[in-house]
Parts: sequence; structure tokens; C-alpha cells
Amino acid sequence: MTEVALQTRDIVAGYVPELPVLKGVSVAAQAAKITVIIGPNGAGKSTLIKAIAGLVRVTSGQVHLMGKDITNPRPDQMGAHGVAYVPQSDNIFRSLTIRQNLELLLRNAGAERAARLDALFEQFPPLAQKQNQKAGALSGGQRQFLAVAMALALNPSVILMDEPSAGLSPKAAQEVLEHVRKLTERGVTIILVEQNVKQALRLADHCYILADGRNQLDGPAADLLSDPVVGQIYLGGKRVAAT
Ligand SMILES: Nc1ncnc2c1ncn2[C@@H]1O[C@H](COP(=O)(O)OP(=O)(O)OP(=O)(O)O)[C@@H](O)[C@H]1O
Ligand SMILES: [Mg+2]
Repeated sequence: MTEVALQTRDIVAGYVPELPVLKGVSVAAQAAKITVIIGPNGAGKSTLIKAIAGLVRVTSGQVHLMGKDITNPRPDQMGAHGVAYVPQSDNIFRSLTIRQNLELLLRNAGAERAARLDALFEQFPPLAQKQNQKAGALSGGQRQFLAVAMALALNPSVILMDEPSAGLSPKAAQEVLEHVRKLTERGVTIILVEQNVKQALRLADHCYILADGRNQLDGPAADLLSDPVVGQIYLGGKRVAAT
């Protein structure tokens, strides 16, 4: 049986009270699945993630986590709720070493700190090798792996990711997204915003398309991948029909 881990119900949210960016958005993320959010630039994808994370105020509607209302959480309480957020940019401290970045996240982990750090390095061997290097010296792909490792530091049950593959080479993007898939095998629920629509639909379980701050369409990712209208708008039209 599938279980909804995180859900928004008709949320209205924005940066200025009289000008909502989200005009009633409802999404439901199944536990231990990848839910991908796509849509044109300015559709409100990042705003949706930020509204869930408590960084943009929700003026109407609710956000539920495992059935509990967490609408407008204090952003610093999200970790305690078991929700991690990986922002689209500026998601690591470049002037700190890799190890220091992770230690910062683990500062309240007490006696578990060393074991958690070991577990993260085990999961990301390239980060372990470079742990004493400045994070700013990493390649784009490795920086995103560090951002994901930081999100994992607090053992979240849900991770909100805003375009983790942005700016990466196709190979690095694929590596990051494949790692995201592995997280779901360990029970983590993922809500992922992606520009790379084809890769995202191949990877995800369910997909929501937003347009102008509203739900436009949603369905199983595999269905949307073969949907001619979605193909026309987001996947380069005929090229998809041919593959
Ligand atoms: N900090 C802000 N203050 C005011 N308006 C904002 C702010 N951030 C975004 N907006 C506006 O909200 C709307 C939705 O932006 P949002 O960043 O959520 O879109 P998006 O779907 O993530 O787009 P992209 O694909 O470009 O990342 C846009 O019209 C944008 O100009
Ligand atoms: Mg965005």
C-alpha cells in the first residue's frame, strides 16, 4: 500500500501578500518515492519548495507531513520534523572544507556525530578522499553531492531538492539523479524540482506540472513521458516520439 508522506492542499503563497505566486497548489508525495515538479520558468516550482520549507509564507491551504499539519514551520524546525531542503544555489559553504561543511550540520548530533560523519563518507567516497579540501574547489557535480550529503546529515525522511542537476554536465547530472534514486531505496521520500524533464521523468515515480502558480497536470512519470502533449511542450516534440 502506498502512503502519502508529504502533501500540500490548495496552498496559496508568495512574496507579497496581495500578489500570490502559488494560487492553490496541491501535491502529494508518496513515501519512499520520487515526486518530480516541472514547469516553465517562473511557474512557482522553487516557491512551492520554499513554502513547504517555511521560507515563503503560506496564506491559505495546508502542508501535511505524515498527516500532521506543519504549515508555516519555522525553517530551523524542519530538521526536527525530518525534512531537509537542498536549495537551487548557494547550498554549501565554499570557504569551509568538506569535512567542516558536514560537521556544521552535525553540530547538534552529540555522541552520534562521528558515526554519522563516517556513514556519510562511506556513502560518498569522493567526498571522503577530499574531506580536507575547500568545498569551493570541488567540481560542480561533487559540490552537488556535498549538498546532498549535507541534507542527509540529519537523517531526514523527506528531502526537498531544487534543481540538483542545474549547471552540471549530462554525466554529472545523471550521477546525482541516480544517487537520488538510491536514497528512495533506503526509504527517503524525495520531492525534486527539475529542468531536465526527460531525465527527471525517467527517474521519478510521479510528476506534477505547474504553470502560472497552479497545478496544470499530474500523473505517473512514465505516463507523462509518453504523453504527446507533454512531449510537445517539454521534451522537444517529435524527437521523443522517435525514441
Ligand atoms: N524573492 C522573490 N521576491 C519576489 N518575487 C519572487 C521572488 N522569487 C521568485 N519570485 C517570483 O515568483 C514567481 C515564481 O518564481 P519561482 O522562482 O518559484 O519559479 P520557478 O518555477 O522556480 O522558475 P525557474 O524555473 O526559473 O527556477 C516568478 O514570477 C518570480 O519572479
Ligand atoms: Mg526555480
